[in-house]
This record gives sequence, structure tokens and C-alpha cells, in this order.
Amino acid sequence: MVYDRRPDDMVRITTPELADAFIEEQLQALREQIGDKKVLLALSGGVDSSVVAAMLIKAIGDNLVCVHVNHGLLRKGEPEQVIEVFRNQMKANLIYVDATDRFLDKLAGVSDPETKRKIIGGEFIEVFAEEARKLDGIEFLAQGTIWPDILESEAGIKAHHNAGGLPEDMKFELVEPVKILFKDEVRIVGERLGLPAGMVYRQPFPGPGLGVRCPGAITRDRLEAVRESDAILREEFAKNGLEGKVWQYFTVVPDFKSTGVKDGKRTFDWPCIIRAINTTDVMEVTVEHLSDELIDHLVKRIISEVPGINRVLFDYTPKPPATVEYE
Ligand code: XMP
Repeated sequence: MVYDRRPDDMVRITTPELADAFIEEQLQALREQIGDKKVLLALSGGVDSSVVAAMLIKAIGDNLVCVHVNHGLLRKGEPEQVIEVFRNQMKANLIYVDATDRFLDKLAGVSDPETKRKIIGGEFIEVFAEEARKLDGIEFLAQGTIWPDILESEAGIKAHHNAGGLPEDMKFELVEPVKILFKDEVRIVGERLGLPAGMVYRQPFPGPGLGVRCPGAITRDRLEAVRESDAILREEFAKNGLEGKVWQYFTVVPDFKSTGVKDGKRTFDWPCIIRAINTTDVMEVTVEHLSDELIDHLVKRIISEVPGINRVLFDYTPKPPATVEYE
């Protein structure tokens, strides 16, 4: 049956057996709801949309059309992973759109954080709608809405991040197969559906992506420095057993330069800031203190491997007073 709300007496899904039972029930409900019609899904590669994709591939196979929009602000290897997991392994009907130039051209010279967010969100909907218009016979739109989204929108904390946004003339019936689940339950369900652990247990990543970690007006070279330093940080956290233990960790490359020296020559390059935090509710966060050895190693790697960086800084500020992201 398709639930609109989480039943009060629903047992928290904490075991593979409970996840399997939920999946079985949902697959049947989805097949009943959708029949032989087609469903469209914006697949970001984040936990929720990935689990929805995996569920619908099992339920309706080729009648699910996934659209992965690469806005150029994704982390290193992410679009490739989406293609590998969903198109190559799960045989999904996946449309991949590399819209990097479109997004970065629109963002060029824009330094106000909220304007940047609006451009990224607006452009995303436009690209997605363009792809949807090319398709025939789509009647449903799948979304990775989860139970906290519904609770928060009811409490007026945040607008329901999934609902709406598409142009007025594009009306679809919604399919929201993980709508009654908490995040931890979505992860277990995703694992049981065969998604890689790295995908279902990944750290939170903001919708505007690396765009908010490249403060001020985004340039391609500084964005690349964010992407490369982030990849090094993630690799080192994984090697040092911190992946899955630290809530969120990333790098920021601010828009100022300082002098340095390399191979006997003066440099004038950006600093790279490392942020690593822990929290339960993201309202208050504490800083994860790294070992001196790890910090030294990160400094060496980032300086030698990332073009344009000549200093590495560590952010020791909790929230409040600092937010997690820099803008
Ligand atoms: P702040 O910076 O507000 O971040 O302390 C709290 C959490 O929210 C994430 N975040 C975002 N997520 N769109 C998102 O989807 C956004 O615009 C956005 N801004 C911040 C941030 O990564 C952290 O986990």
C-alpha cells in the first residue's frame, strides 16, 4: 500500500530483514500505482534519489527514466559513479546531461551567495525541464522526499525542497517511495537494493555543490582547486578510518592570494581551508580535531598536487558562531 504518512506504530527499520520486508511491500505498491506508465527522476547521485532510483529500477525497469544533470559543481568522480552504478551495473535508462558550461557561464562574475544559489537552482530546473520535454508519455515524477522533509515543511522550518519548481504546464503525479522513512532507514534500504556502501553512507553534500565552497565569483581554475583538494581530503579520511565517522569534511578555496615560495621562486596563490565537523542536528556543530601527522600529510599533498594552492589552513570554529558552509 502507498502510505501518505508514516504510521505511528511503524517499527524503525534497523535490520536487513526489516528493510527487505519494506522493499517487498513498496515494490508491489509501486507496480500497482504506476502500472505500465513511465516515471521520470532527477538523479543527483545523493542518498535519497539514488535509493529511489534503485527501488524503481527493481519495480518497473526501463519505464523509469533517470536524468542526471552535471552542473559542473559536483565532486571529483561523482558523475562517473552515477553512470557506472546506474547505467552500467543496474542497467537503468539514464540520460546524462553535462551542463557544466551552461552553469559556469551563468555564474561567471556573480559573487553574491544567494544569487549564486538562485542561479544554480533555477538553471537546474530549466535543464531538467528541457530533458523532460524531449520525452513522450511520462506521467509520473519520482522524488527522494523523506519523512524529516515532510515534518520540517509542516513545522515551517523549510520549504519542502522537492515539491514544485517545474514550469506550470508540466504536471506529473508524484511517486515518493521513501517518503515515510528516516535517513538511517533509507541507507539500510539502499544497501539491500544493492547500492554501494560509499553511495548510501556518504556525507551530506549541499545542492549548490562545490559552488558554495568556491566563495565569491566562481572561476574554473579555483573551482578545480576546490575539487582536487576535496578529493585528496576524502581519500585521506578514508585511508585513516575517518570516513563514516566524521559527519562532514571538505575544503574551501577563498578568493584571495598570498605570497609563498616554491622551488626558489616567489608564488602568489590561494590558500586551501580544511573543515571537518561533527553534529547530530546541524544546528550546532563541533570541530573534529585531526592528528598532527594527518594535518602534515594533508598539507604536503595539497600543496604539491593542487595547482594554485600555496597554503593550507584548518578551520577550528564551531557552529555557532560559524555556519558549516562558507556562504
Ligand atoms: P550551514 O552552512 O547552514 O549548513 O551551517 C548546514 C548543513 O546544510 C548543508 N547546506 C546546504 N544543503 N543546499 C543544501 O542542499 C544548500 O544551499 C545548503 N547550504 C548548506 C551543509 O552542507 C550542512 O550539511
